[in-house]
Amino acid sequence: MTAPASVDDLLALLARGAGVHDEPDVDGLAHALQCGANLRASYPADTELAVAGLVHDIADIVFPNDHGDHARRGAELVEPLLGARVARLVGAHVDAKRYLVATDPAYRARLSPRSIESLQLQGDALDTSAIASLASDPDLPAILALRRADESAKDPTARPLALDSWRPMLDQVAR
Ligand SMILES: [Fe+2]
Ligand SMILES: [Fe+2]
Repeated sequence: MTAPASVDDLLALLARGAGVHDEPDVDGLAHALQCGANLRASYPADTELAVAGLVHDIADIVFPNDHGDHARRGAELVEPLLGARVARLVGAHVDAKRYLVATDPAYRARLSPRSIESLQLQGDALDTSAIASLASDPDLPAILALRRADESAKDPTARPLALDSWRPMLDQVAR
């Protein structure tokens, strides 16, 4: 599977997330739309952050039977079209979970059962040096905002805006 080369390619790929499940209660498309919409509402000035939320689990759609290393593989898939910052935000979304589990005592309880299961495979809480490394990232607030939006984007009753509503923002971010 090669990386999407145009906004049309990317939209077609995301549309394939309908019916592809990592979480039991929301499919990949619904999760993408909810995560993007959460960020779009909370950070209207940061288009790249909202777009990163939309595409953060794209590797789960492209490789539906292999969740391993999906953050890094997602970053590689979106970097050519959406650029280095979006790729960095996508690539950091698992470490962001591990960071929040390590630094916020209440955070683990907010994870879905599936996310707790994958946390074990991802190495659980970050260690001290990895925490310091992520904490020194100037984009840390956006990295953590994406992760918190990710956790909130697993609502089977949510009705986010349709995929087509993203075209202008994707056109703006795409190179
Ligand atoms: Fe993910
Ligand atoms: Fe996610």
